[in-house]
Amino acid sequence: MSSEHSKIESLAFIQAEWVRRSQPSPCGFLTVYDVTNEQFLHLIEEGIRFKLDSQYGHGALNGKSVALVFQKTSTRTRVSFELGIAEMGGAPLFIDWRSSNFTLSALEDEIAVLSRYCHLIVARVYHHHDLLTMKQHASVPIVNGLCDLHHPCQALSDMVTIRHVFGSTNVNLLYIGDGNNVCHSLIQAATVCGANIRVITPPADAPQPSIVAQAGDSVQVGHQLDAEWIRWADVIYTDTWVSMGQETEAEDRMIRFMPYQVSESVMAMAPSHAVFMHCLPAHRGAEVSSGVLDSPQSIILDQAENRKHAQKALLVHLLT
Ligand code: CP
Ligand code: NVA
Repeated sequence: MSSEHSKIESLAFIQAEWVRRSQPSPCGFLTVYDVTNEQFLHLIEEGIRFKLDSQYGHGALNGKSVALVFQKTSTRTRVSFELGIAEMGGAPLFIDWRSSNFTLSALEDEIAVLSRYCHLIVARVYHHHDLLTMKQHASVPIVNGLCDLHHPCQALSDMVTIRHVFGSTNVNLLYIGDGNNVCHSLIQAATVCGANIRVITPPADAPQPSIVAQAGDSVQVGHQLDAEWIRWADVIYTDTWVSMGQETEAEDRMIRFMPYQVSESVMAMAPSHAVFMHCLPAHRGAEVSSGVLDSPQSIILDQAENRKHAQKALLVHLLT
């Protein structure tokens, strides 16, 4: 090949790469609905495969780097992503918001720069609109590692857990507590997976009406700890009453939510096969009693473990 020819080819490659990197992020996972129903169901099956075979996906992320940009603290999301990426040959790069120049510069500029270094960005933010800004200015996929409105990686992992325990996601899911980010993503995942979901919250803390409306007949919302609803449940799920960013409201919330604690007496009303789930971190004696958290019905550790398996499936889907 003449040197002139290879110079033209290099130029064409650089131009194509520039165009690719200038496009808004082509795909990503900001909410459960950002993948098709078929893809979501496939990710659950792949998550199970990752769980059962520790060698599965080995080398799938060779040469790929993934940035984790976190405005909030994390144990499970950070560890499960970092280990999952490394186990598949990729390079995870954790970026704490406060000790980086995200605090100095416009979000759009910093995220565009990160897109030049990394193949995918996992972001944990206070406000969902920050994720939309990231998606607009990144040229690589953005994955929501939790925001105020959604926690889709948690819901995907929870469906892997339910599928593993029950052999199907076609279950009756009762969520008791705050109609928050975890609840929203669980409602969306339930609609995709053919699960029925009922949600019991204080009247002022119901899930967002638009999310409930979008879920149609799959979801019902109530405000009383109704014995009939508890007897109906295969899974009883709760989350913290004080999400990250709501610390100043903690005292009022603790009082408002206390009647909604998942205690031994609640679990005693549920069918004997029912399991207890919590995304963690849990607050013993608040949203759940210690007795329930430590009971044989509690599958919280499987749930936490499955974050890694489900997210490996997601990463392979988005990166290969
Ligand atoms: N469930 C969950 O996202 O936990 P972390 O906040 O510890 O990541
Ligand atoms: N609703 C909680 C979930 C933590 C994983 C929060 O946003 O803090």
